[in-house]
Amino acid sequence: MNNCIIVTGGAGFIGSNFVNAWVTLGLGKVINLDKLTYAGNMENLAGIEHDHNHIFVHADIGDKDVVNNLLHTHRPRAVVNFAAESHVDRSIHGPGEFIQTNIVGTFNLLEEVRAYWLELDEKEKADFRFLHVSTDEVYGSLGAKDPAFKETNPYEPNSPYSASKAASDHLVRAYHHTYGLPTLTTNCSNNYGPYHFPEKLIPLVIHNALSGKPLPIYGNGSNIRDWLYVGDHCSAIRRVLEAGKVGETYNIGGWNEKTNLEVVHTLCDILDKKKPKPQGSYRDQITYVQDRPGHDQRYAIDATKIERELGWKPAETFETGIQKTVDWYLENQKWVTHVTSGEYKNWVSKNYAERGEEMA
Ligand code: NAD
Ligand code: DAU
Repeated sequence: MNNCIIVTGGAGFIGSNFVNAWVTLGLGKVINLDKLTYAGNMENLAGIEHDHNHIFVHADIGDKDVVNNLLHTHRPRAVVNFAAESHVDRSIHGPGEFIQTNIVGTFNLLEEVRAYWLELDEKEKADFRFLHVSTDEVYGSLGAKDPAFKETNPYEPNSPYSASKAASDHLVRAYHHTYGLPTLTTNCSNNYGPYHFPEKLIPLVIHNALSGKPLPIYGNGSNIRDWLYVGDHCSAIRRVLEAGKVGETYNIGGWNEKTNLEVVHTLCDILDKKKPKPQGSYRDQITYVQDRPGHDQRYAIDATKIERELGWKPAETFETGIQKTVDWYLENQKWVTHVTSGEYKNWVSKNYAERGEEMA
């Protein structure tokens, strides 16, 4: 076994932040397997394009031959699985891809990893890790007074996206219990930061604000999410990979519960300071649109287990992380222009026209 890891989905939002940090920190070689769907973008990896510790492979996690070949060629000590369809609204419009990648893809990946792992010697077997990156959405929706999600909460997924992630978590669990594969699962709250695709709330609002477009709030804006800066999610994954107990799951969160309206107001206020409009406030662009079907009311993560057992805590508060994020978008408008052409336009007009808002 070599000191290298395979990362799947490493051209997407969180995966690219993870791979960039891994290579920049000098933690070893990364084989980055990504299908480059609409959400995958080689520009996210431009900074490590020529680094010999980064090898990019354009492929599907469900392609067993490619995965088998990569495992046997590179003999990694770990596989970190980020690859997924990740957008709840898209899962409502078309769940098929979510079933295919998140469930069938993860199953195929697990099968190939299990076959590789079985061939390792006893020491290598014990040292190997399969880390599955998952979401807090598998736990369902909380009421206003409910305690935050713990690792012991029952799974109650409500969208095709969260149901597909829940299924993949169950498969990972089963591969540990049945076959002994040394797995780890992380369930994280909403991330934000650089390279976040502008179909998700925070980058969409920054992009629309700067383009003079409506800032669409689903329903009345009272839904609550727990926000974590993406760099903190990546440091938590590194910590779990290094010291997590095999077979366990770890919740990761930022202790930052905010209503959607609070988040959008914060973004408008920051932009009013950093990039003032000739007249008025960005808040004037806020528009209430038809709600997401089955919209989960509240997510909150209890991250005491990872803090107590592994000593991990987020480095950023929401206030510091959101300032950094707005700065990144203001400094990287070229990236935004590139990712908001083509397929993005079709998605935006489809999603928001249905909600009674013209936004193309
Ligand atoms: P993303 O949509 O930005 O990126 C997903 C990446 O996976 C893309 O690069 C895409 O090309 C790739 N991909 C998709 N299907 C593939 C396939 N079949 N084979 C290989 N590659 C494929 O997603 P993200 O926001 O970076 O999320 C990454 C992971 O983290 C997902 O598993 C998601 O469920 C989980 N997660 C996300 C958040 C969040 O707030 N974004 C929070 C918790 C957990
Ligand atoms: O909780 C973790 C999850 O967070 C991840 O597993 C998902 O991959 C990730 O996409 C995210 O899911 P959400 O559905 O919470 O994120 P999104 O940015 O799509 O929406 C955040 C909140 O904002 C949600 O309550 C819906 C609302 N919203 C979203 C959009 C795109 C709006 O009000 N208007 C919008 O235009």
